[in-house]
Amino acid sequence: MSSTNLQKWTASDLAPDGAGAAPRHVAIIMDGNGRWAAARGLPRVEGHRRGVEALRRAVRAAHELGVRHLTLYSFSAENWSRPVEEVSDLMNLLRLFMRRDLAELHKGEVRVKVIGERAGLPSDILGLLEEAEARTRGNSGLQLVVAFNYGGRQEIVSAVRRIAEAVRDGKLAPEAIDVGVVADHLDTANIPDPDLVIRTSGELRISNFLLWQSAYAEFVFLPLHWPDFDKAAFEEALASFSARQRRYGGRTARAGA
Ligand code: FPP
Repeated sequence: MSSTNLQKWTASDLAPDGAGAAPRHVAIIMDGNGRWAAARGLPRVEGHRRGVEALRRAVRAAHELGVRHLTLYSFSAENWSRPVEEVSDLMNLLRLFMRRDLAELHKGEVRVKVIGERAGLPSDILGLLEEAEARTRGNSGLQLVVAFNYGGRQEIVSAVRRIAEAVRDGKLAPEAIDVGVVADHLDTANIPDPDLVIRTSGELRISNFLLWQSAYAEFVFLPLHWPDFDKAAFEEALASFSARQRRYGGRTARAGA
């Protein structure tokens, strides 16, 4: 890149976040519960139980590390294809978590938001999720976004459907559809995009998680299984994030210099 080009580049073209910035929103793909259990000769459910303990540690660490929004991939739209006993174990763990932990989350000013398809969920689960949202709505601390029965493609399809309905009903002109309109029709409307997506267990996949929202997220893949996740692992991911220069498709002051 020539210095002439560089001189034409104005401050407003520079990346909004330089290296060293802390992530406001961290999203986590909690993977590896089954392998953690298998490596110890334990049933998969034990891996999921330890996974819930890691989830508690993650919420606490997020709060302590100044993260404002934490999204956890708790049950994907595709997880229904697992054996019925495992689906039932995961549902039971969610029930337990919501019953046992909601009071403490509320006390800690955590604001719970659930994303994902609600239709078809067992009615008591739906009740627990709605209660968690209603009870914590006024809280001002960490926003805990629980992705449950969530799939990124399914979320985009629902948004498209609702946008099409608005156009059909004459409430929206097709020319008015832009990135902002689509974002406002997603389950994550009003939640900033994730700055950092962490996946544990060493798998290098996005698995239908926050497809739209993670367009400019930084990714950190940790080699440990989710039940082993702790504050030190969280800090390691944040350190990796803060060493990066985010460009959002643009250039930084250093580029081409
Ligand atoms: C991946 O492990 C994890 C999940 C299927 C979802 C995350 C679930 C928890 C943390 C426990 C449940 C908590 C709630 C609140 C529902 P895996 O089974 O895919 O691991 P594997 O790839 O090693 O088999």
